[in-house]
Amino acid sequence: MSVRYSAVKWNRNKRVYDCVLAAGILLYLGLFFLVGKLAWPGSPGISDEVLLIRALGTCAFLLLHVVLCIGPLARFDRRFLPLLYNRRHLGVATFLVGLFHGALATAYYHAFGRLNPLVSLLSTNTHYASLTAFPFEILGVLALLILFFMAATSHDFWLKNLSPSVWKALHMLVYPAYGLLVLHVTLGALHSEDSSLYVVLVAAGVATVAGLHLAAGWRERLRDSRVPGPEEQSDGERWIDVASVAEIPENRAKVVCLAGRERVAVFRYGGRLSAVTNVCAHQRGPLGEGKVQGGCITCPWHGWEYRPENGQSPPPFQERIATFRVRVKNRRVFLDPRPLAPGTPVEPAGIEEPSHDPLCTTPG
Ligand code: HEM
Ligand code: FES
Repeated sequence: MSVRYSAVKWNRNKRVYDCVLAAGILLYLGLFFLVGKLAWPGSPGISDEVLLIRALGTCAFLLLHVVLCIGPLARFDRRFLPLLYNRRHLGVATFLVGLFHGALATAYYHAFGRLNPLVSLLSTNTHYASLTAFPFEILGVLALLILFFMAATSHDFWLKNLSPSVWKALHMLVYPAYGLLVLHVTLGALHSEDSSLYVVLVAAGVATVAGLHLAAGWRERLRDSRVPGPEEQSDGERWIDVASVAEIPENRAKVVCLAGRERVAVFRYGGRLSAVTNVCAHQRGPLGEGKVQGGCITCPWHGWEYRPENGQSPPPFQERIATFRVRVKNRRVFLDPRPLAPGTPVEPAGIEEPSHDPLCTTPG
């Protein structure tokens, strides 16, 4: 965890993930090259270099689609979570493949004139007012700069130093980068003979990314709009009716959305109930979608752990998250909506057993 910036340690899973990723990229490039050779045999415009530029460009663009789709997919199906754990590796791979594509394209189309290739790339085409002759390469350069910035700050060292919310906000730049690349490919395709195929494929990609995000957001809103049960006032305090005890599965949580859209996860474990913020201190993962393992709430995204009764990570880690008071009355779970300072210990609420047959109780 972040105490020594080693939250996500290099382990066997990561090595397997990276090997599969590298093999997948090589396989894609090889297949693209082979199919390209067969599809355009002897075509003068399609040299091996151009095929490689196209293979690398489409590969990076495809990887970016995977990066963008994993989040919403993991919300719908937990089997996508392993992909999410190492999404940053996918992001770095996207940048590297995009870099090779950009470098090769610059070398191939701009290295043989009088000008420096970079100067030539940035200054030769100035048809900014034209749709069909627009210097689409500039859009690729801008997107590549964003991808570089994200790859360079992807380590937990930056997450810790910039704070999770700043880091998250910076990494939202992936959406402008995606927008730039959609334009890069679409406008670039207008220069080429295969424009309709590229435009159809890009439209399908955009529809998939947008559709998945909208569906995940809609599901989230639907959950949030489920108003918690009636409030209860006692001792001058306000308690929110979260659910019945039976509605919360063992070692899992019920997530409740408070006014102001703050989400709280109420966990049931070993006959007790505790509540913590739903937001993980690492990258704001949804703790309520995780489970209690070995006495700790485990974040579903990268496995950070917190004790449910005090919101503290087990030693030697020092992360703290906000806790909330919980109580049980008539088998219903009530929550005090006021957050306590991160790491504040709270006595877990015991689950009341259903009342027994009065004939069996000890006579008084
Ligand atoms: C320095 C940055 C970049 C430059 C100079 C550049 C240049 C080019 C050029 C010249 C083409 C047309 C290639 C051809 O058909 O002959 C192209 C197409 C394309 N680029 Fe880029 N690009 C850059 C960055 C990127 C990045 C970062 C991505 C994806 C992450 C990307 C994805 C694509 C795709 C998918 C195509 C369409 C397929 C193709 O024709 O290769 N490009 N780019
Ligand atoms: S462990 Fe990464 S977001 Fe929770």
